[in-house]
Amino acid sequence: MLRTHSCNELRIDNIGQKVVLCGWLHRSRDLGGMTFIDLRDRYGITQLTLDDSNQTLCDFARSLGREYVLQVDGIVRERSSKNPKMPTGDIEIEVHNIKVLNKSKTPPFTIEDNTDGGDELRMRYRYLDLRRNVLKENLALRHRLSILIRNYMNDNGFMEIETPFLVKSTPEGARDFVVPSRMNTGEFYALPQSPQTFKQLLMVAGFDKYFQLVRCFRDEDLRADRQPEFTQLDCEMSFVEQEDVLTMFEGLIKYLFLKEKNLQFDAFPRMTWDEAMKFYGCDKPDIRFGMRFVELNDVAKGNGFSVFDNAELVVGICVKGCAGYSRKQLDELTDFVKRPQVGASGLAYIKYGDTDGADVIKSSVDKFYSQENLKSILQKFNAEKGDLILILAGEKMKTRSALCALRLEMGSRMNLRNSDVFAPLWVIDFPLLEWDEETGRYYAMHHPFTAPKPKDYPKLSTSPSEVRANAYDLVVNGVELGGGSIRIHERTMQNNMFKTLGFSEDEAKHQFGFLLDAFEYGAPPHGGIAFGFDRICAVFSGIDSIRDFIAFPKNNNGRDVMLNAPSNISDAQLNELKISLK
Ligand code: AMO
Repeated sequence: MLRTHSCNELRIDNIGQKVVLCGWLHRSRDLGGMTFIDLRDRYGITQLTLDDSNQTLCDFARSLGREYVLQVDGIVRERSSKNPKMPTGDIEIEVHNIKVLNKSKTPPFTIEDNTDGGDELRMRYRYLDLRRNVLKENLALRHRLSILIRNYMNDNGFMEIETPFLVKSTPEGARDFVVPSRMNTGEFYALPQSPQTFKQLLMVAGFDKYFQLVRCFRDEDLRADRQPEFTQLDCEMSFVEQEDVLTMFEGLIKYLFLKEKNLQFDAFPRMTWDEAMKFYGCDKPDIRFGMRFVELNDVAKGNGFSVFDNAELVVGICVKGCAGYSRKQLDELTDFVKRPQVGASGLAYIKYGDTDGADVIKSSVDKFYSQENLKSILQKFNAEKGDLILILAGEKMKTRSALCALRLEMGSRMNLRNSDVFAPLWVIDFPLLEWDEETGRYYAMHHPFTAPKPKDYPKLSTSPSEVRANAYDLVVNGVELGGGSIRIHERTMQNNMFKTLGFSEDEAKHQFGFLLDAFEYGAPPHGGIAFGFDRICAVFSGIDSIRDFIAFPKNNNGRDVMLNAPSNISDAQLNELKISLK
């Protein structure tokens, strides 16, 4: 070993010991007669001290730049001015010798918690960014959670089994990343969007309880919580019903919270998809705060205000204690809802009382509504004096989605989305199918292998959009952490499902023949779930972006700016693959 201790190891008990440390020159301070160097490694920082008694060594130390890699030997001494904020703050090393193990160019940004480097620059020099505490701790959390997950899964009888990365492209789901095959000219593999069909085949094979921490690949538009390659905790169980899956994985999430954060939870609340859409306008409600939607069609329509009268849905939220919002603040909110990403055409409000405490009701629509009318709207919200009602109107789904964005915005403005508070929620009873106007066909809301609820099965041929599935999502703080379902395990039902999705028999056979065939060899009833592992890490840290929990992530254009990938390939490679770019 080149060192005797790490940079976070030496304490008052080590005083007088001769030690050798290795690390990076984090900072150095030249205080006239004394030179101090903070030596940093993965574990922490130790202060090195040099005094003028050894002028040559001192001059040498002063010539060293930031991020030089050093090997230092010396004696542990008690510090005269201690730093209680540092674990090694009681001691320092009186340096006898310094060896430069490697030089470093001046880094393009500071390796500090509050660095001066912009996003793109830090991505280009990711290996330097990873030296910073924040990212180092994020990856340490990721590591700890992966160990905890493996322990829980192992303790509960699950086997980790790897599945292939070079698989078959299918048109369902997101877009595939494809890989040309040299040995099979003109043919392509796809990288798996998830190991869904493999885990079902493992159930047919009798493995009973499977899991895998596995990379998945999806060519979709990127956002803070989406990367083109990301990691799933993928799980499947045989001979189970929905309740068994929910219990097992609620147990896992509770175990992670307990072990990592020392937090305990009662049974996670459950909400049907219908309720989530009606009361929160989305399938992943952040239930750290209230502001549930109140539908107002019965009280708001029929007063001559055409925007409300012509709307499919008039719906609002009650924002506690915000009746004092100024004109400017309300204009800001109106601009917010009118942004293309939110998509509302306008915002109506009712203020119940004002800052002076007067019992007045003011509204942006009081031309059309008497005080009595407005009062009956306020009653629907159980509003109290001082509350502000915000109302949107229009086509049902669009209006719900816009109000969902406004509710989250108000939650943030009012500091109701505290990242130290965790509010898990199961959303259950998803619709099996969703209709797509553009292509004029049904798509599986989860995926085509999800089973309809047995009681809804007959509706599959008569009213497909009413069929509910035994499909569930786990949502924490408004983030979809995981989703799964009970699967179809019979060939006839799977064929019916493909038919409903508009597949001809040939297409179904061509794309999923292997699974349909497998179902004829004793497929057990089975179900499972997959969690976004990067998202679990981010939510545990109260951070929106999963990038910060991936060692080498892609930017929002799907590029690795450090490798400069994707990139062109040589003509020779193209020729070998028989690919012409013309
Ligand atoms: P689903 O498509 O819902 O289900 O994915 C499961 C979970 O994976 C995470 N996730 C992502 N994380 C980061 N970046 C992405 N681009 C991304 N896409 C998805 C989410 C999501 O909840 N095979 C099914 C699971 C099953 O039925 O068992 C599946 O993949 O946290």
